[in-house]
Amino acid sequence: MDKFYITTAIDYVNGAPHIGHAYEKILTDIIARHYSQRTNDMYFLTGTDEHGIKIQKTAAAKGITPKELCDENAQKFKDAWKALDINYNKFIRTTDEEHEKTVQKIFKKLVEKGDIYKHSYEGLYCSGCECFLNPKDLTEDGLCPDHMKKPDVVKEENYFFKLSKYKDAIIKHIKDNPDFIVPSFRANEVLNQLEDIQDISVSRAKTNVQWGIDVLDDPEQSIYVWIDALSNYITAIGYDTETPSEAFKKYWPADVHVIGKDILKFHSIYWPAFLLALELPLPKHIFAHGWITIDETKMSKSLGNVISPTSVLETFELKEPDAFRYYMATSAPCGRDGNYSDEDFKEKVNAHLANSMGNLLNRTLSMLVKYFDGVVQPKNYELVSGSKELVKKALGTVKIVENHFNHFEIAEAAQEIMSVVDLTNKFVTDNAPWTLAKEEKMAECGQVLTTVLEVMCIVSALIYPYCPNIAQSMAKQLSFDLNVKLDDITDENIKEGKLISKEDITPVFLRVDSELADKSAKK
Ligand code: MSP
Repeated sequence: MDKFYITTAIDYVNGAPHIGHAYEKILTDIIARHYSQRTNDMYFLTGTDEHGIKIQKTAAAKGITPKELCDENAQKFKDAWKALDINYNKFIRTTDEEHEKTVQKIFKKLVEKGDIYKHSYEGLYCSGCECFLNPKDLTEDGLCPDHMKKPDVVKEENYFFKLSKYKDAIIKHIKDNPDFIVPSFRANEVLNQLEDIQDISVSRAKTNVQWGIDVLDDPEQSIYVWIDALSNYITAIGYDTETPSEAFKKYWPADVHVIGKDILKFHSIYWPAFLLALELPLPKHIFAHGWITIDETKMSKSLGNVISPTSVLETFELKEPDAFRYYMATSAPCGRDGNYSDEDFKEKVNAHLANSMGNLLNRTLSMLVKYFDGVVQPKNYELVSGSKELVKKALGTVKIVENHFNHFEIAEAAQEIMSVVDLTNKFVTDNAPWTLAKEEKMAECGQVLTTVLEVMCIVSALIYPYCPNIAQSMAKQLSFDLNVKLDDITDENIKEGKLISKEDITPVFLRVDSELADKSAKK
């Protein structure tokens, strides 16, 4: 694999980030970190979507300019991603000058090509979705089904994009590439939507929407937010209608766009059509994740149940985001909806990270110090039955995990890693190294410990994308080099000789305090 280019959706800045936004950035960061273990050239893009009527209205209601609102909130997104160790290469803002200029050129190119034309139109616009809705898609009361709000009746002369021209090519692409849309069960939804697809309005009159990029040569119109927003995936890496940058040539097409299921239509119909019109290759995969609810309820400002990602870290006094990352990433199988609750968070991370994984390493290292002064004994797998098989199983899990990641099955991959941890705990219980020591079977006792340490090296590499700080702490205590590529991991990670001293043993993850969860629940 020579490169991997991954993107997230860019978030609207009409509010602060919540754990739904965080879920996506965590999944993407985990995929990016995993593929960094498989390629030397990773590019991870995220950012904010800053134009459109929604931002214009929110700023007006707050009595500030749209740009002030964008600056204030874009910073909150950056701060949140920093707190969550989201290791992106670039943060694009659609108000960046470079981006705005390229979007104007893209629009102009499509006008010149005849794919964009002017047309008078009357339609129902939902500012929540930032798109025109088909009357047949409204609820019985005439509301947008996603935002439960009445759309505005808009009568304007707009530019239109010939979406219908690309319908057949997109249908063919989806059918010929069953892994284009992930999970594949969503492809049928898209194919149904494509059935009655029509040309779409791609500009708004400046009289109605002032906060947008001007159409070149027609400043009375501003470019539709979704052309503006979707183009970020190519403008960020230096696309230009005349001379694309070296980075663009290297990274495009994207390997995967990670997005929420609510914006799949824009990514699997509109975006491919714009790209086909620009004569550019299509992204390899579009991975639509599910939605996160809070205590099984949809997050909404009116319900007052919106949780900020950093507030979870504060509630549980977590210095590092690993536990939150792990919890979110494992909250739902690929593409399905997940849920957050304080109580469940506490139970899961304590059980998986503190008890099963952290404790296993801690106990093993402590026994190594206690019985062998921290010195790894000469290996002899024959001495302890099942020990060779366990290490083999752990090594085999690397391929299983890679395979899950090939299909963006992040929670499923984590489950495989935890099942190796569980097997290893069982191995320790079954072989009771403390009893072996008591019986002075020191060679056997030493082999049990070595087997566990060998497995833990592999586990630290596999858990690294989810819990980078915990993995680093594990690897440090195991003297294991976490920079190793997954394909280069062997079953010979632990060397004979001094490994650790008592004072260097530290728990990799401290249990989350249950009192804190109770306090938070009462609040
Ligand atoms: N600006 C557009 C995306 C443009 S991409 C070219 C947008 N912004 S958003 O702020 O509304 O959403 C950003 C991402 O967060 C989307 O992928 C969306 O699905 C995701 N989520 C927003 N709320 C969410 C949950 N409650 N749960 C999980 N993801 C959610 O759409």
